[in-house]
Amino acid sequence: MVTLEPMRWWHIDAIVPVEAQLFAPEPWSARAFWSELAQLQTRHYLVALDGTAVVGWAGLCDYPDEAFVQTMAVAPAHQRTGLGARLLAALLEEAARRGQRTVSLEVRADNEPAQRLYARHGFTRLGVRKGYYRGVDGWVMTRRA
Ligand SMILES: CC(C)(COP(=O)(O)OP(=O)(O)OC[C@H]1O[C@@H](n2cnc3c(N)ncnc32)[C@H](O)[C@@H]1OP(=O)(O)O)[C@@H](O)C(=O)NCCC(=O)NCCS
Repeated sequence: MVTLEPMRWWHIDAIVPVEAQLFAPEPWSARAFWSELAQLQTRHYLVALDGTAVVGWAGLCDYPDEAFVQTMAVAPAHQRTGLGARLLAALLEEAARRGQRTVSLEVRADNEPAQRLYARHGFTRLGVRKGYYRGVDGWVMTRRA
């Protein structure tokens, strides 16, 4: 059974190699995760645990007038099992709990699986950042509750 729990510093070592695999050529470093977790007031990070193994994670930033999905990932062996949808739903719940009606995110223009996940949760494309990801466009997607 896969459970969702708050991300803690001791999960980072397990996350980094999977992050490198999923987000090459621009993965977050361990330092980036440490920095996110240090911002206690504005960040909400979750891990998906299968026993003690980290098989997914996601993070939200609570800006003054909107929330932003900072990152979202499911380990390859657990993809397409509904875990991405669970993580995203948990972030949207947290955004609502914090009184945020608008949630935004950025996704690569060529990342169709992620775009479909977001579209199924009510996100629509608001704009394009040309060449944002080393020459690949970034889509800004937004959801208003
Ligand atoms: C995007 C990602 C988080 C989705 O996680 P997941 O656990 O596989 O997603 P789910 O099983 O919850 O799927 C939910 C929906 O997402 C879409 N989806 C997920 N994987 C897909 C795929 N390979 N192709 C097309 N649609 C896909 C579908 O709409 C799916 O619903 P369905 O299965 O009923 O058709 C996962 O593919 C991932 O980690 N990718 C690499 C990292 C990444 O791109 N992160 C997002 C950065 S913005």
